[in-house]
Amino acid sequence: MPTIVFASPKGGVGKSTAAVLLATELAGFGAGISMIDADPNKPLSRWAKRPGRPAVLEVISDVTEDSIIDVIEEAALKTPFVIVDLEGTASMMVGYAMSRADLVIIPVQGSHLDATEATKAIKLVRAQERVFKRTIPYTILFTRTSVAIRTRTFQSIEDEFAENQIPMLRTHLHERDAYRALFAFGGALSGLDPEQVSNIAAAIANARLFADEVVKTLKPKKAAVAKAEEVA
Ligand SMILES: Nc1ncnc2c1ncn2[C@@H]1O[C@H](COP(=O)(O)OP(=O)(O)OP(=O)(O)O)[C@@H](O)[C@H]1O
Ligand SMILES: [Mg+2]
Repeated sequence: MPTIVFASPKGGVGKSTAAVLLATELAGFGAGISMIDADPNKPLSRWAKRPGRPAVLEVISDVTEDSIIDVIEEAALKTPFVIVDLEGTASMMVGYAMSRADLVIIPVQGSHLDATEATKAIKLVRAQERVFKRTIPYTILFTRTSVAIRTRTFQSIEDEFAENQIPMLRTHLHERDAYRALFAFGGALSGLDPEQVSNIAAAIANARLFADEVVKTLKPKKAAVAKAEEVA
């Protein structure tokens, strides 16, 4: 049932990559997944056409600004997880998708420019909260960070988010060859060929930690909502 929406007005920050990593990890546990490809460039549909897509994972690509809410709601009735990938822009479509999210994940690369764009995404989440009169949980996901080095720029961005009490996932999706290769070859990380792609095991471990943390982030929120409904 949870709907997870990947959003950022900045292009190329790793939304589609993170969406596919989360979906394929969750699919690995046998969970049914609907992925909604709400980007007119259709990155997920192209990925799904390549071999290796897990059978429990369906990509829905026929979606417009007018239909996005219905498509999300329908998918949420059918599969345990719904994952929405959006275009790198601020549009009505993005706002509508956020309005149905149990978690909005905002990927950020380690630059100040990215951090500013992430702040715009957070403002959009807050605007949707007011319009739709509901709390929309969100979190920052750092992407393409170095495994080895923690840059000063990155540290200052993290400090600034922390000061402003902006939630951040502890797990980063590091810069990894295997994450690029997913879109070239299709399927999940476990299906990649070690002859062609380096360090697959580390990429799998990283993606697993990411998926685990997302699931843990969803759980207490669901429990809190259920409790609030019980009291009401
Ligand atoms: N963790 C990562 N390691 C290595 N390459 C990455 C990683 N994340 C993203 N990339 C690469 O960066 C590029 C942009 O990533 P992606 O398409 O996921 O971003 P996006 O936010 O979905 O972009 P858009 O806004 O255009 O939809 C792609 O070439 C992708 O392979
Ligand atoms: Mg994308």
